[in-house]
Amino acid sequence: MRIDILSIFPEMFEGPFSESIVKRAQEKGLAKIYIHDIRSYATNKHKRVDDYPYGGGAGMVMMAEPIVAAIEDLKIKTNYDAIVFMTPDGKVFNQTMANHFSSFENILLLCGHYKGIDERIRDSYITHEISIGDYVLSGGELAAMIVTDALVRLIPGVLGDETSALSDSFQDGLLSPPVYTRPYDFKGFKVPEILLSGNEKAIVEWKHQQAVERTQKRRPDLLKNGDL
Ligand code: ADE
Repeated sequence: MRIDILSIFPEMFEGPFSESIVKRAQEKGLAKIYIHDIRSYATNKHKRVDDYPYGGGAGMVMMAEPIVAAIEDLKIKTNYDAIVFMTPDGKVFNQTMANHFSSFENILLLCGHYKGIDERIRDSYITHEISIGDYVLSGGELAAMIVTDALVRLIPGVLGDETSALSDSFQDGLLSPPVYTRPYDFKGFKVPEILLSGNEKAIVEWKHQQAVERTQKRRPDLLKNGDL
């Protein structure tokens, strides 16, 4: 999978993408992630990428020109399955979307700032709009990092244990059951006996039961809407 990211703060990505799973995925050649500075596509003297909104109002708007120049330039070399705008008014990201996007070969993520981007970019270039939740961030960068992480860990071969993404919370529409490791007795609190029973079938059933109970208690909405 190739992920290109367009941002006016390219340095923000350095830490998160050079650690842990995303780092390993890149080292293994399973994920190719490229960060591009929108400002380098600005043609005006001061490398400005924003301007005042027509009709007035608070805040600045990201100009169409540099963003479109960047997208057009990237499109010369890469055929994108999705050109995604990270925005709080987009579709709220969930595991179903992550699974869907993880099958794509090439994705372009556009990070917005200020009051948004010129609507004409959305009209003519953007294929998907994603929000990571109902709150407003200072920019799309953190959202793009979150989406990238969620997609990269689903690429086959990225996680050491091939099955571990499948047992994540949300993959079957349920939260994950509780997990335990040694010691058996931690300050008087013991591991549930069933997990030591060696009875594989009973353990699978117990885990499922725990997952259902946990979901009912914490996220009953997941059981209702079938959206996952
Ligand atoms: N940019 C600002 N807030 C955002 C959000 N909640 N999701 C995605 N992109 C954003």
